[in-house]
Amino acid sequence: MMPQTLKACAPPPYPMAPSMTRVTRFIRESAEVFTFDLAPERATPFTPGQFNMLYAFGVGEIPISISGDSQAPERLTHTIRAVGPVSAALGGLKAGDQVGLRGPFGVGWPVEEAKGFDVLLIGGGIGLAPLRPAIYWLLRHRAAYGRVGVLYGARTPDDLIFVSELEEWRKTPDFQLRVAVERAAPDWTGDVGYVTPLLSKLRYDPADTVAMICGPEVMIRATALALEDAGIADSRIFVSMERNMKCAIGHCGHCQFGPLFICKDGPVHRYDRVRDLLAYREL
Ligand SMILES: Cc1cc2nc3c(=O)[nH]c(=O)nc-3n(C[C@H](O)[C@H](O)[C@H](O)COP(=O)(O)OP(=O)(O)OC[C@H]3O[C@@H](n4cnc5c(N)ncnc54)[C@H](O)[C@@H]3O)c2cc1C
Ligand code: FES
Repeated sequence: MMPQTLKACAPPPYPMAPSMTRVTRFIRESAEVFTFDLAPERATPFTPGQFNMLYAFGVGEIPISISGDSQAPERLTHTIRAVGPVSAALGGLKAGDQVGLRGPFGVGWPVEEAKGFDVLLIGGGIGLAPLRPAIYWLLRHRAAYGRVGVLYGARTPDDLIFVSELEEWRKTPDFQLRVAVERAAPDWTGDVGYVTPLLSKLRYDPADTVAMICGPEVMIRATALALEDAGIADSRIFVSMERNMKCAIGHCGHCQFGPLFICKDGPVHRYDRVRDLLAYREL
């Protein structure tokens, strides 16, 4: 056992050193998207909307939002779209394989501040994954909120993620869910097109609504505009932003977005604080 004096002097964990975790469950969501659970040594509390840095050994490290339940921090769930070397390497793992983990990092969704309001969550593609912990939170604390609505858009029915949960949510009383795909075969009975026209199908009071958006930047811009047109104040619209990251702790500048660092000021930002920056596509 370490003598008490030495223990007291031990340096805090180095924030750039990943801890070792193992994959405990692997689920394929679609051709490109997969979900896995990690079992960290200690329960790792997080708030909905925060992210971890996941390290695929010998390949690299990437930021990935936590897509699981913040009330069950002994299990860290991540849902990932394979787009390049690191995400593809993570997609090749199976239960029992090791992953390096740093986190959780960042500022998440304003689930506490939204208490008493109607809440709209709008996800595009893989953007439903960072919203899922907020959905779990709202379902668990349902009485604390007004009306709740989720809009989810994907390219095709085959690209939908969390399909069995979508069915459960659809049947949940007092919970509005609309799913739209951009293209579908004639046997698709749901909505076709973008999510923004579906806003008019949800019941909410624009004067008393908090909205949370996650998806590709073009979808974020269009959705935020539609919400403003519907009468929701820009200070009550929250968006989750993505940029390349290295340190995730505000040191390296890789994720700089105007005066902000996405890793520590976000990834979730109030829309009125980033709207002008979002107008610059290469920022
Ligand atoms: C805070 C935060 C949270 C994130 N959460 C998730 C998540 O929950 N699930 C998830 O799948 N991804 C998430 N991402 C995106 C993820 O980090 C990137 O997809 C990943 O870094 C790609 O790394 P790579 O080495 O596999 O591919 P790279 O070599 O980095 O990229 C391969 C190709 O994909 C493109 N690309 C890279 N990132 C993105 C992106 N975000 N969107 C679209 N195209 C991209 C690149 O331009 C390039 O053409 C998040 C990013 C941030 C900043
Ligand atoms: S990733 Fe280094 S400052 Fe944000």
